[in-house]
Amino acid sequence: MKAIVVTDQAAGTAGMKLVERPEPQAAINDVVVQVHAAGFVNTELDWPSTWTDRAFRDRTPSILGHELAGVITALGYGTTGLSIGQRVFGLSDWYRDGTLAEYVAMEARNLAPLPGDVDFTVGASLPISGLTAWQGLFQHGRLQAGQSVLAHGAAGAVGSIVTQLAREAGAYVIGTGRAADRQKALDFGANEFVDLANDTLEDVGGVDLVFDVIGGDVQKRSAALIRAGGTLVTAVGPTDIRPADDLTVDFVVEADRAQLSEIVQRVRDGRLRTNIGKVSSLDDAVATFNSTERRAGKTVIRVLP
Ligand SMILES: NC(=O)c1ccc[n+]([C@@H]2O[C@H](COP(=O)([O-])OP(=O)(O)OC[C@H]3O[C@@H](n4cnc5c(N)ncnc54)[C@H](OP(=O)(O)O)[C@@H]3O)[C@@H](O)[C@H]2O)c1
Repeated sequence: MKAIVVTDQAAGTAGMKLVERPEPQAAINDVVVQVHAAGFVNTELDWPSTWTDRAFRDRTPSILGHELAGVITALGYGTTGLSIGQRVFGLSDWYRDGTLAEYVAMEARNLAPLPGDVDFTVGASLPISGLTAWQGLFQHGRLQAGQSVLAHGAAGAVGSIVTQLAREAGAYVIGTGRAADRQKALDFGANEFVDLANDTLEDVGGVDLVFDVIGGDVQKRSAALIRAGGTLVTAVGPTDIRPADDLTVDFVVEADRAQLSEIVQRVRDGRLRTNIGKVSSLDDAVATFNSTERRAGKTVIRVLP
C-alpha cells in the first residue's frame, strides 16, 4: 500500500516520503480500515510518539496521520461492535502507524460509525479538532451556560469548533487570532474578536474559561484574565501558570466514541460547521505539507479519490 512515512526528525516536513509499505494486520480488538480521507496536524513531527513506541524505542519509518474516515475491511481477534464494510471515523493511537496510508490497523474502540450522509472528507476533519474542543470545554473546562470563554485561534481547526460548541452551550465567546481572521471567527459564532497583534488582550476583562491553542506569552497573559473559580485549558504543552485556585489543565486529546457521535450529529443537524482548509490527494500530500502558503483550517488528504 502507499503511505507517507518519516525517518529523520531533523528533516521536518521535508523528510516526508510517499513509499510502499506492507498492508497492516488487525491485532486483538483491532480493525483494519481502508482510509478514504485523513486529517493532519503539522505539529505531529514534534511529538515524541511520532518517533518512538511506548517503550521509547525508535519506531521509524513511522506512518504519519492520526485521524481518518474510511471503511472497515477486516476485524481482529475478539473485535466486537463494528463490522466489515461499515463506514467509520476516529482518532488512532499516537504511537502506532497512522492514517496517511491506504490502510490502517487501529483499536476498534477509537472509532465511531460515520453516518452515510456525512462525506469522508468531513469525517476525517472532525476527530482531533472536534474531540479536543469537546474535551477542553466540557470535561476539563466544565463549561456552564452563561459563562465566558476566551477562544484562542478562533478561526483555526480547533478554535473554530471551540467557538461553535461554546456558543451552543450558552457561553459568551471572545475569539482571538490574526487580523485577517476576524470575520471568519465572527462567522463561526464568536461574540467579539481580539486581534492579538493590534488589540489589547487585557481589555477583554475577566473570563471564566481560557481555551489556549497558542501557548507562550499569549497563554501567560490570558491566565491573568481568569476570574476566581475559572479555568485555563491548554492543548499546547506544559504550563506552570496556576490561577489562584489551581485550575489549569494541560491535556492531550483522547479517542471517545460517544463524543465522536455527538460531534458528527451536530454536523448533520447544521449546528456545527467543520473548518476544512486544503484538500489534496495522497500523491500530492507531501507537496501540500511542505507548501509555504498559509494554512486556513484543517488540511485533509483524500486518500481514495
Ligand atoms: N493537546 C492536544 O491534544 C491537541 C489537539 C489538537 C491540536 N493541538 C495543538 O493545538 C494547536 C492548534 O491546532 P489547530 O489544528 O487548531 O491549528 P490551526 O488550525 O493552525 O489553528 C491555530 C490558529 O491560531 C492562530 N494563531 C497561532 N498563533 C497565533 C498568534 N501568535 N497570534 C494570533 N493567532 C495565532 C493561527 O493563525 P496562523 O495560521 O496564521 O498561525 C490559526 O488560525 C496546535 O499547536 C496543535 O498541535 C493539540
